[in-house]
Parts: sequence; structure tokens; C-alpha cells
Amino acid sequence: MIKIRAYADSDYEDVKLNLEEGHLFHPEDSSSNFRAKIERNHGSIIVAETEGHAVGNIFIYRHPENIPTASLWSLAVRRACRKQGIGSLLLSDSESRLRKEGIKEAVIMPEREDLREYYIKRGYVPSGHPQFMYKIL
Ligand SMILES: CC(C)(COP(=O)(O)OP(=O)(O)OC[C@H]1O[C@@H](n2cnc3c(N)ncnc32)[C@H](O)[C@@H]1OP(=O)(O)O)[C@@H](O)C(=O)NCCC(=O)NCCS
Repeated sequence: MIKIRAYADSDYEDVKLNLEEGHLFHPEDSSSNFRAKIERNHGSIIVAETEGHAVGNIFIYRHPENIPTASLWSLAVRRACRKQGIGSLLLSDSESRLRKEGIKEAVIMPEREDLREYYIKRGYVPSGHPQFMYKIL
């Protein structure tokens, strides 16, 4: 049973491991930086929990109020839990959260060229910019 919910401090080690396994962990990804992020916006890190562990995560950045667009990044699922639909669930849950907030568009910058197909299957469209893809929500 997968539960999609907002990140809490206690998820830090799990999220760090998800990011490390996905080669997405950066030195600035400290627990205090994550805490500051969620204090600014409670829903800026979303996790997928199963058996008491946050085995997947996605980060959301809402652009300033006059731009109804949000960026999604750092989508990562624990290696042992991939190909079970958790990545898709994190994406679709984030999109519906944003839709409810009145945000009209989600933007994503795939980390690698081979991930473009993954996002195309989930409704993202390549933009004029070679690296960005977007989805109208
Ligand atoms: C990219 C990533 C997040 C995908 O996560 P995931 O949970 O494996 O994604 P999903 O399970 O939703 O989809 C993966 C595949 O599993 C398949 N799948 C989904 N549910 C399934 C199930 N219940 N049983 C079998 N296969 C399933 C899907 O069909 C999908 O294949 P497709 O893209 O050909 O349709 C994950 O591989 C990862 O963390 N990669 C490393 C970090 C990274 O590169 N992140 C992207 C940054 S832009």
C-alpha cells in the first residue's frame, strides 16, 4: 500500500537515499535546507511511503503568484521499488495538488535524454527549449 504525503523531517534519511540511488543528491540537500523548503511551502516535497519508509520523492517549486506554473524535479524512487508505478503516482499526485491550487502548467527538465520518453508517456510535451518539457494541467 503506497501512501502519497508531504515530507516530514523524519523522512530525511530515506529521501537522501532515494536521491543518492538516482544520482540526484547534491551537497546542498541537507536536512536543514529541506526543512526550510517545507517551512516556506508545506507541499514542496512529496513522498511515497510504504512500510514506514519514504521510498520515492518529488520536489515542487511554485513560481511567484503571477506565473501559474510550477517546476517538478528530483523525482526519484528507491531502486528496489521501481517499475511498480510509484514514480507515475508521485507525478500524478503532484499534478492534481497543483491543479487544485489553480496552477495551469507543470514544467520538468529531464535529467537525461532517455527519460524524455518516460515523461512523454505521462503527458509532457517537449518545449521550444531543448531541455524543458511541460504539461497543461
Ligand atoms: C525515473 C524513475 C523516477 C521512475 O520511477 P518508477 O517508480 O520506476 O516509475 P513507474 O513505475 O511509474 O514507471 C516505470 C515503468 O514501470 C512500468 N510499471 C508501472 N507500474 C508497473 C507495475 N505495477 N508492474 C510492472 N511495471 C510497471 C511502467 O509501465 C513504466 O514503464 P514505461 O515508462 O515504459 O511505461 C526511477 O527510475 C528513478 O528514480 N530513476 C533514477 C532517478 C531519475 O533519473 N529520476 C528522474 C529525474 S528527471
